[in-house]
Amino acid sequence: MLQLKTLTLKTNIIQSPMAGCTDLAFRLVAREHGMEFAFLEMLSSEALVREARRTNGILKRVENDRPLGAQIVGARPEVMGEAARIIEDMGFDLIDINCGCPVPKITGPGGGSALLIEPDTTKKIFESVVKNVKRIPVTVKMRKGYFDPSGAEAVRIAKLAEDAGLSAITVHGRTRAQGYSGTADWQSIRRVKETVKIPVFGNGDVMCGDDAKRLLEETGCDGVMIGRGALGNPWIYKSIESVLNGGVPTTKPDLETIKKTALRHFELEIETEGEKMGVLKCRKILCWYFAGQPGAAEFRNKINATTLAEDLRRLIENF
Ligand SMILES: Cc1cc2nc3c(=O)[nH]c(=O)nc-3n(C[C@H](O)[C@H](O)[C@H](O)COP(=O)(O)O)c2cc1C
Repeated sequence: MLQLKTLTLKTNIIQSPMAGCTDLAFRLVAREHGMEFAFLEMLSSEALVREARRTNGILKRVENDRPLGAQIVGARPEVMGEAARIIEDMGFDLIDINCGCPVPKITGPGGGSALLIEPDTTKKIFESVVKNVKRIPVTVKMRKGYFDPSGAEAVRIAKLAEDAGLSAITVHGRTRAQGYSGTADWQSIRRVKETVKIPVFGNGDVMCGDDAKRLLEETGCDGVMIGRGALGNPWIYKSIESVLNGGVPTTKPDLETIKKTALRHFELEIETEGEKMGVLKCRKILCWYFAGQPGAAEFRNKINATTLAEDLRRLIENF
């Protein structure tokens, strides 16, 4: 059990926010397979405050899609504070501040991972968000650094987070300069864990139960945040839980189970996004599910040429 201010988590395994991936359909499938806590896709604080249409699509959720956190990105302390207030008023269970996004569109104006090298602004953002939020926990998710591979930038930002009254920290053990390449450096997570007293989640390259166990052992951190390991693999949560409870990893599902689950994800995507957008999104999603299966490349070519939900459904059924 993990207590983050008003939020009680039964497990210490949580799902990361992933833009373009962790939408409502993804979360519903994941919850049906044992995921406890998830995030929306990252939200622009500027768009939230202006009520942009695209942002509102990201906010789509249903009653049983909880506990659910929202993550905001931006560089202006007042706007981040106002966005956080809006998020709390909407009834989310946690608000996270993004200090990790490597995309130039976000870092150019000073947001995401660029905050790692702007401690004065970052401190003001932490303080502004904490001041504007009355009840729910405020957390930060950061990379280990912008350029500096030592982890010192993450340690410095972690101290500011703790001083400002944040409830937890997640560290992704890669620099901004690394993007998603190379392997995640878990020692940087350990350095942050040794620096602060608030809970620390380790993140990066956890693809199975053994990885989660090793990450907890090597870093001493309080929890694990799963990222890409859950794409097309909602079975990961139970498998990790089994290993952490001293059991063996659950076996990989057979093709029929994968097809059934992919179909469920597909139907939810069409239901929540409409046929046109749902089909487009499913081109990527279905590749996750069938990756590594014989015939996966041919399947990918076929789904990329498909625009109708009915045709896509048949392709999955006949895989
Ligand atoms: C497609 C994609 C989108 C992502 N979007 C976000 C995001 O919106 N916010 C965030 O904090 N991290 C985002 N990330 C980073 C992941 O949450 C995670 O930190 C990273 O993938 C490392 O963990 P992993 O090795 O377990 O995947 C994204 C990653 C990917 C691959």
